[in-house]
Amino acid sequence: MKHELVLVLDFGGQYNQLIARRVREAGVYCEMLPYSAPIEKIRDKKPIGIIFTGGPASVTDKGAPFIDEEILALGIPILGICYGMQLISALCGGTVRKAAQREYGRVGISLGDSGLFRGCEKETVCWMSHTYHVDRLPAGFLTTAFSANCPAGAFENKEKRLYGVQFHPEVNHTPEGRKILWNFLYGICGAKGDWRMSAYVDDMITKIRDKVGDRKVLCAMSGGVDSSVAALMVHKAVGRQLTCIFVDHGLLRKNEGDQVEEVFNRQFDMKLIRVNAQRQFLDRLAGVSDPETKRKIIGEEFIRVFEAEARKIGKVDFLVQGTIYPDVIESGLGDAAVIKSHHNVGGLPDIVDFEEIIEPLRDLFKDEVRKAGLELGMPEHIVWRQPFPGPGLAIRIIGEITDEKLDILKDADWIFREEIKAAGLGNEINQYFAVLTGMRSVGVMGDERTYDYTLALRGVTTTDFMTADWARIPYDVLEKVSSRIVNEVKGINRIVYDITSKPPSTIEWE
Ligand code: XMP
Repeated sequence: MKHELVLVLDFGGQYNQLIARRVREAGVYCEMLPYSAPIEKIRDKKPIGIIFTGGPASVTDKGAPFIDEEILALGIPILGICYGMQLISALCGGTVRKAAQREYGRVGISLGDSGLFRGCEKETVCWMSHTYHVDRLPAGFLTTAFSANCPAGAFENKEKRLYGVQFHPEVNHTPEGRKILWNFLYGICGAKGDWRMSAYVDDMITKIRDKVGDRKVLCAMSGGVDSSVAALMVHKAVGRQLTCIFVDHGLLRKNEGDQVEEVFNRQFDMKLIRVNAQRQFLDRLAGVSDPETKRKIIGEEFIRVFEAEARKIGKVDFLVQGTIYPDVIESGLGDAAVIKSHHNVGGLPDIVDFEEIIEPLRDLFKDEVRKAGLELGMPEHIVWRQPFPGPGLAIRIIGEITDEKLDILKDADWIFREEIKAAGLGNEINQYFAVLTGMRSVGVMGDERTYDYTLALRGVTTTDFMTADWARIPYDVLEKVSSRIVNEVKGINRIVYDITSKPPSTIEWE
């Protein structure tokens, strides 16, 4: 099925993926391209509308990201957001001006008469984040909104179908934002809204079935959301022609390996091979305390175990990968610095003998992957699983890993998670886990002196895991967790709660 398409051109703004998600939430499929995408490519995709995102530059900067101005003449409706609006202005002969003061945060705004603001409160608030704003409007444009510091809060040239907003309609702090995007999509671009997850899933299953025919497919399953949904989709398409290899490195959370086996092997009757390689991994990790060395060893060992298992299966025709859309998006302005090496199952294509890769989630954002999982009948505890690092508990045991420490951490982490869920906080805190620090301290239990480990609890709220705030877990919940852990888990006599945000900390401790 061919969906109607909206293109989001990326100028490097921090909310860009959010714009794309909002468009899809409104029922319209969209893709993000770097601002430098050639006009032929844009034209060939036949978008019903184009959105220019915000970005850190100013159009007056030397080397600021510009576009082929012919895009404006294609007759396709365009909405410029923040930098995007200033760009439209500059390309059409208007000017921008540095404001006396950077405008940042929630700001009162008056919305005027425009198709973009149909049905919106006229006096409302919006989220601003800019230093420059449009000063002299290009010929043929009208101002449609203003704030105290920004005389051109929005503008348009209805005839040319060009629209701009200086504020950010995509963020929650702009209460009328969704309506504004909706108006652009449905009122101005004439969208029908044909993007539905159920249809997408059915369509993808048919496509995979047609492609695979009677041939063989292999998938590396980690138990995480992406690889699980990808595997289940392929399984629905071709049943037991798909073999999944699940390498259990023993560094998963308590009972997790059994759960994966239970759900996929028994509930879905998938051909899933669980390789119990705990000993092998722990032996290789013995005596290692450097975090990056741990990651490297686990990555290498994973490949080795997977390869040995795959060799038993022999040549396959297809390899499934759980790549999702944010992994595919080519950013407008290059990538951020790498702080930790995240190697999951990236090296597999080099070691498996296969003809082609199948990536059923390549078009989907994370929240859409979850929706697809629910469509496929996947249990909620897998669909809503919090992110879990590929190297697992190895990077939550500070310093050297031993069997004893691993058991202690698994039990403590289990209790923490159980209590967070019992307190009804499971959906509010985006990631929460326990860390076994290498530190021992003196305690007293009954009449006995103890000299045991200190456990740290970490809970964060975040939308993208790039930045995060520490979760304000109520004291009574923390108290219960603390008392249960020291009473029920031997080897821990002190518990601390991590109250640093990211940055400057990272979410994981290693
Ligand atoms: P940090 O610790 O960098 O974590 O703030 C950000 C997110 O990434 C996860 N994480 C990893 N995921 N392999 C992974 O697959 C890794 O080596 C790894 N290290 C961190 C972390 O759990 C958080 O969600």
